[in-house]
Amino acid sequence: MDLSCRNNGYFVVVVMIVVGLIGTCVNGDNDGDSVGAPMVKTEQEALYSAIQGFVGNWWNGSDLFPDPCGWTPIQGVSCDLFDGFWYVTELNIGQTYDNSLPCAPNLEFRPQFFQLQHLKSLTFSNCIISPNQATVSIQTANWSSFSTTLESLEFRANPGLSGQVPTAFGSLKKLQSLVFIDNRLSGSLPVNIGNLTSLKRLVMSGNMFTGKIPDNYGCLSGLLIMDLSRNLLSGNVPLTFGGLTSILKVDLSKNQLEGEIPSEISSLKSLTLLDLSNNNISGGLNFSNQEMTSLEELVLSNNPINGDLVNFNWQHVYNLMALDLSNTGLTGVIPESVSNLKNLRFLGLNDNKLSGSLSPKLGELGNLTALYVHGNNLTGDLKFSRQFYQRMGRRFGAWNNSNLCFPMSKVSASVRPFGVKLCREQQS
Ligand SMILES: *[C@@H]1O[C@H](CO)[C@@H](O)[C@H](O)[C@H]1NC(C)=O
Ligand SMILES: *[C@@H]1O[C@H](CO)[C@@H](O)[C@H](O)[C@H]1NC(C)=O
Ligand SMILES: *[C@@H]1O[C@H](CO)[C@@H](O)[C@H](O)[C@H]1NC(C)=O
Ligand SMILES: *[C@@H]1O[C@H](CO)[C@@H](O)[C@H](O)[C@H]1NC(C)=O
Ligand SMILES: *[C@@H]1O[C@H](CO)[C@@H](O)[C@H](O)[C@H]1NC(C)=O
Ligand SMILES: *[C@@H]1O[C@H](CO)[C@@H](O)[C@H](O)[C@H]1NC(C)=O
Ligand SMILES: *[C@@H]1O[C@H](CO)[C@@H](O)[C@H](O)[C@H]1NC(C)=O
Ligand SMILES: *[C@@H]1O[C@H](CO)[C@@H](O)[C@H](O)[C@H]1NC(C)=O
Repeated sequence: MDLSCRNNGYFVVVVMIVVGLIGTCVNGDNDGDSVGAPMVKTEQEALYSAIQGFVGNWWNGSDLFPDPCGWTPIQGVSCDLFDGFWYVTELNIGQTYDNSLPCAPNLEFRPQFFQLQHLKSLTFSNCIISPNQATVSIQTANWSSFSTTLESLEFRANPGLSGQVPTAFGSLKKLQSLVFIDNRLSGSLPVNIGNLTSLKRLVMSGNMFTGKIPDNYGCLSGLLIMDLSRNLLSGNVPLTFGGLTSILKVDLSKNQLEGEIPSEISSLKSLTLLDLSNNNISGGLNFSNQEMTSLEELVLSNNPINGDLVNFNWQHVYNLMALDLSNTGLTGVIPESVSNLKNLRFLGLNDNKLSGSLSPKLGELGNLTALYVHGNNLTGDLKFSRQFYQRMGRRFGAWNNSNLCFPMSKVSASVRPFGVKLCREQQS
């Protein structure tokens, strides 16, 4: 708070000085309103120094890019006009483009970087790329300088970026998008990210984060996308997640989460994707789902969920397009209600302990392109149409069901599903 007030005061003084000198600041060859607009000296120096800290001392901005927001643009830098002066609004550091600058192995966040007055978007992608060299971590101090400006902060594909997420990110009140994908960040997820009520996108996948998901992440009522997949997170799916009232996609896959799927999530009316696959989730498939009518993809594979398919109200999730419950320890039969999910494209029930017969109604699902039921204990004759087998090919998996058989008389041998024996009466 103090810092930003001081900055504003300083800014006004600088603007007044530069306004006084405006004639000398304007470039000669301007042919439009904004083309020849000047850049505040401190902003320009801050930009040069910031980039030099990121890419190395060999880079001399004032030499190469005397007019960085005008006729000598820097790849990855965007500017905008504020009261007739250029300011940097976006910085993309790293090899995003063919000719963009590689980052220095000893990348540093210089104090001048935090003096950029109107920075809205900061991205480091393919920047800290050498995992073997001395690893770089995100500087912890001074981020509050950006608390009233920064809307997007992204670190993507930086295998040499380790250490923790600075708690100071909790001061970035304007953040709408906070993205950490495929770095080597570790430690626990900062609790105060739950304070960032403007957040729409929170993506922290592919790092080494440990510990529990903070309960207050459930307070992010404006959040549209939460992706914490591919980490080492443990504990339960927070009961508070019922508060994610705008959420569209939740991906917590490939962690070490345990406990039940909380029924609190049943209130998530807009949720289209729920992926909890590859965790240690248990407690049966009986969480309430009465308002989850937007759900299109439910992916719970590779969890010891156990229980059966009959206690779940499939009629509430009538928009499901992908349902993956493979390897979840399911027992009992496949209820008829599953074949009423008219929009299903993918149905994975393989590698469970399901028994009973396979309803031919599943073959009538017009959009179904994959049906995997292999590795169960299904019984009886397969009763799908010839067209169904032809359409599906190997995307119909029914092998390893020792009591399931294929009646040869009805359809020709050419469509016999892989690994399914012939029914007894035809074999003799
Ligand atoms: C950049 O080059 C100019 C002259 O070419 C020199 O005066 C200035 O000190 C250099 N700046 C840095 C940061 O190396
Ligand atoms: C934070 O900013 C202050 C003031 O600009 C500066 O003196 C200090 O060195 C900065 N700290 C770091 C770690 O950059
Ligand atoms: C931010 O979160 C921290 C930790 O949860 C809390 O102590 C603090 O009061 C919060 N600050 C604001 C401004 O909400
Ligand atoms: C999975 O969770 C159960 C408790 O439900 C626990 O006993 C078991 O150790 C966990 N397994 C792993 C691999 O974490
Ligand atoms: C859900 O199923 C599990 C085991 O399948 C059972 O222990 C639990 O009581 C059930 N919960 C509800 C709410 O029905
Ligand atoms: C199948 O997909 C089409 C196109 O995506 C869609 O319009 C239709 O509603 C879906 N459902 C069925 C039952 O065909
Ligand atoms: C498969 O089902 C049959 C009855 O249909 C039963 O006798 C058998 O024990 C089951 N096998 C397994 C592995 O559950
Ligand atoms: C069938 O199951 C056996 C034993 O569980 C397994 O070894 C084999 O790989 C499975 N076959 C196929 C085609 O998945």
